[in-house]
Amino acid sequence: MNRIKTISELRKIISDYKRLGKTIAFVPTMGNLHQGHLQLVSMAQKQADIVVCSIFVNPLQFGEGEDFAQYPRTLDDDCHKLQKIACDIVFAPAMSELYPQSKQQGQDQTQVVLPGISDILEGASRPGHFTGVATIVAKLFNIVQADKAIFGAKDYQQLQIIKQFVKDLCFPIEILSHPIVREANGLAMSSRNAYLSKEQRAQAALIQQSLQKIAQQLRAGARNYQQLENDAQQLLDAQGFVSDYISIRCPDLSLPEEHCRDWVVLAAIKLGSTRLLDNIEVSL
Ligand code: PAJ
Repeated sequence: MNRIKTISELRKIISDYKRLGKTIAFVPTMGNLHQGHLQLVSMAQKQADIVVCSIFVNPLQFGEGEDFAQYPRTLDDDCHKLQKIACDIVFAPAMSELYPQSKQQGQDQTQVVLPGISDILEGASRPGHFTGVATIVAKLFNIVQADKAIFGAKDYQQLQIIKQFVKDLCFPIEILSHPIVREANGLAMSSRNAYLSKEQRAQAALIQQSLQKIAQQLRAGARNYQQLENDAQQLLDAQGFVSDYISIRCPDLSLPEEHCRDWVVLAAIKLGSTRLLDNIEVSL
């Protein structure tokens, strides 16, 4: 496995592969890799000849008072895991490589802003977050020059945002999604699960259960969306969670009408100081 730190080195290797007619698939991550990330890499391996996984904790997508400083950084361990599953290239650049001229870790450089979709749900709770995500992903796409990129459905809104800017800005890359990978108890895997105690991890299974319950109710014909959301929130809050939102939406994240047949139910729930995301897609 090739472990690369600089843009120029990566560009050289990628252009050599392209000259040989090889296709490239790309999996961007912030590291602290778990089975969810590794399954994205395995999917990428089925999609192209060469797989690049990037590891970069992007300051631009963290708000003030968020966990940028504490975010778990486990590069050697991550590389070991990627080597074991035969990932071809790890791109793990330093901050100065991706934000070279910036005194404010990217705040003062060109940014990719998606109006509307960036301001709802996660974007409402974390202003600027999706601008940070779209900006770094656009940079990485321009660096890696992959044919395809794989993203997890766990970050549903992120996936929609990436699909949209790729379309809007005509990036020549195909975006694929991988279903949510879960712990045995149903908790969606996340690097932030590392912040949870053993008891909290067990308790966090309730998030998925409450989304499953809404899915069942939708399938059974319930259409009072607000009521379903409130009931689930109250149930979770009574169990010691603090729900930021539980929201029933159309697959494109617009508000659903009564006659809908497809939905996504999204949740952002705090357990202690850890904010957890989950969602479930429902179709009749
Ligand atoms: P990160 O949280 O490290 O996630 C990297 C990729 O793994 C994302 O596409 C995410 O949706 C996917 N992923 C994480 N947990 C998953 C799970 N349990 N099941 C399926 N996929 C999962 O998302 C980011 O990093 C960053 O915002 C990034 C896109 C790298 C930009 O900085």
